[in-house]
Amino acid sequence: MNDVCVNAWWWSEGPLVHLCAIATALLLSFEHYSISDKAMDYRILHVDEDQDRMYVGCKDHVLSMDINNITDGTLKVFWPASNSKIEECQMAGKDPTHGCGNFIRVVQPYNRTHMFMCGSGAYSPVCVYINRGRRPEEQVFHIDSKSESGKGRCSFNPEVNTVSVMLNQELFSGMYIDFMGTDSAIFRSLTKRNAVRTDQHNSKWLSEPIFIDAHLIPDGTDPNDAKLYFFFRERLTDNSGHTKNIHTMVARVCPNDIGGQRSLVNKWTTFLKARIVCSVLEEDGTETHFDELENVFLLETDQPKANEPESYFHSSVFKGSAVCMYNMADILTVFNGPFAHRDGPNFQWVAFQGRIPYPRPGTCPGGAFTPDIHTTKEFPDDVVTFVRNHPVMYNPIYPVGRRPLVVRTGADYKYTAVVVDQVAAADGNYQVLFLGTDKGTIQKLIVLPSNQSVHEDLILEELEVFKVCYLSILFSQQLYVSSEYGVSQVSLHRCQAYGEACADCCLARDPYCAWDGLSCSRFYPTGKRRSRRQDIIHGNPLTQCRGFNLKAYRNAAEMMQYGVKNNTTFLECIPKSPQASIRWLIQRDNDRRKEVCKQRYLKNTMEPYGKQQLH
Ligand SMILES: *[C@@H]1O[C@H](CO)[C@@H](O)[C@H](O)[C@H]1NC(C)=O
Ligand SMILES: *[C@@H]1O[C@H](CO)[C@@H](O)[C@H](O)[C@H]1NC(C)=O
Ligand SMILES: *[C@@H]1O[C@H](CO)[C@@H](O)[C@H](O)[C@H]1NC(C)=O
Ligand SMILES: *[C@@H]1O[C@H](CO)[C@@H](O)[C@H](O)[C@H]1NC(C)=O
Ligand SMILES: *[C@@H]1O[C@H](CO)[C@@H](O)[C@H](O)[C@H]1NC(C)=O
Repeated sequence: MNDVCVNAWWWSEGPLVHLCAIATALLLSFEHYSISDKAMDYRILHVDEDQDRMYVGCKDHVLSMDINNITDGTLKVFWPASNSKIEECQMAGKDPTHGCGNFIRVVQPYNRTHMFMCGSGAYSPVCVYINRGRRPEEQVFHIDSKSESGKGRCSFNPEVNTVSVMLNQELFSGMYIDFMGTDSAIFRSLTKRNAVRTDQHNSKWLSEPIFIDAHLIPDGTDPNDAKLYFFFRERLTDNSGHTKNIHTMVARVCPNDIGGQRSLVNKWTTFLKARIVCSVLEEDGTETHFDELENVFLLETDQPKANEPESYFHSSVFKGSAVCMYNMADILTVFNGPFAHRDGPNFQWVAFQGRIPYPRPGTCPGGAFTPDIHTTKEFPDDVVTFVRNHPVMYNPIYPVGRRPLVVRTGADYKYTAVVVDQVAAADGNYQVLFLGTDKGTIQKLIVLPSNQSVHEDLILEELEVFKVCYLSILFSQQLYVSSEYGVSQVSLHRCQAYGEACADCCLARDPYCAWDGLSCSRFYPTGKRRSRRQDIIHGNPLTQCRGFNLKAYRNAAEMMQYGVKNNTTFLECIPKSPQASIRWLIQRDNDRRKEVCKQRYLKNTMEPYGKQQLH
């Protein structure tokens, strides 16, 4: 038994109650790869869709996988830390099994034949060039250089995140630059120009950041105005160094910034940052904040003007857990708005009211707004001084609709990763969210339009992929999941798993799937097959499945217990297969499905008696 959804429902005149038991077993329908059965801390670090390859870093190894089938012909480079560094690492009292390995954390494309990679190197970061050949058929994958220092490119401690972006053979990293892990920086290295970093030990710029992600995002049509955005959470201290608050921030720099002339020499002169808010406004006016950013996904919509800022969205997962989506236009508005200012450490933050120098701090040289200034060394002193003292924007960035897409409180899991796919369904476009949890499962859900303060979300499926905590997911036509123990490939839709009846397919409300007259199959919105039945908003088989194998529909219903008004119904919660677990979900028309298994007995409050209507 793989993944069984036993559907049953109570009929009544109008509303339909749908009770569905989903038995989630360890799925066998995906490919899985691991080097050994040890915890090796796999992370998907780069996907190259042109070459159909995916690069995964883990302890002492880098993998090159075929994205069509990750178990087929995976290439592997063994790259451990040197013995002397491992010894030094152990002498320094670091964890010999975990910390003193070479954990590969930077995997970036360098040129047409080579990748640039860095690892923690037993607390002594190192980098190499790896030859991957011109084409995947060559099956080339090997280290092709001496190792060079990875300082300023990769954190020493593998537990401390490193984020990186390669642009024109220059590496931009967000990491900790020292052995002790006290000097955080956004650093540009591997460059023919000078190295550039954030102002050192300046908590106005970075305050104990935990880097989550980085992306280059265009700003208008001039490529010189594109900026690198770093997403991170940071710890804020009060004047005496106490009261630590966590905030989520986004900072940005211009990639062509080469630092200032007199002040901020070899430091960013275009660095600005803003707070990202993800919160729920309760009816009584209190605001619940989800402040700890866990993961960011950048959704590039297929609108024709892909460079327009509003076509970019961020979905971020916060602890506690919520998923918020941001519009790039709102982010730009905040960076174009007032700067935060205070007269001293004991003063309130206010919007800066004084004169703002030209060019406006944060503007890239050589872009649409500064055709007369070619490098940041030409910035007037007042611009550089202003950036050094006012790197924070006054307004925070709010999510679309000022509310999260998804909120989970009181759940026994938290979300750790998110990817989003845009799916065209019969009744419109849906964003399908795949959310990784710290329980090693993936929830697939859609968000339905709603007029309430919180969006309605609907969990379509839940897959158990790993029995472990760290989980990152990534997708390109398929879903790739990595954790401590390996990498898995899962398909985005398994329409046939919803059963053999039109009603089952319809009630599943999965925008990837539709009833085609014979079975539940992949839905493509290609005009022609108008007869396909799908209803995401209402999931109502009464309107969609009239005339289609109602017999099967009834048979499915008979597999389950019926409820009698004011009586209780016994729900079998112990699965027959030890691999499976059963969840009973109840759904009334447009409501979200609620889990009811814990109760074991479900009181039926619907009119009239269900069983009578079914026969
Ligand atoms: C992937 O490759 C393996 C090994 O060659 C093969 O057994 C498996 O069937 C392939 N899976 C798919 C989905 O093609
Ligand atoms: C790519 O870079 C590597 C390392 O610098 C170099 O050895 C190789 O020749 C380069 N390949 C091309 C096609 O430029
Ligand atoms: C939301 O509100 C608008 C206007 O008040 C209404 O037209 C629409 O039908 C409502 N949608 C839902 C799903 O309730
Ligand atoms: C069911 O219970 C409710 C409230 O407890 C009561 O008002 C109603 O009459 C009962 N219905 C039947 C059919 O017993
Ligand atoms: C109420 O439920 C119990 C247990 O499920 C069942 O034995 C009993 O026949 C039901 N009563 C009625 C009136 O249906």
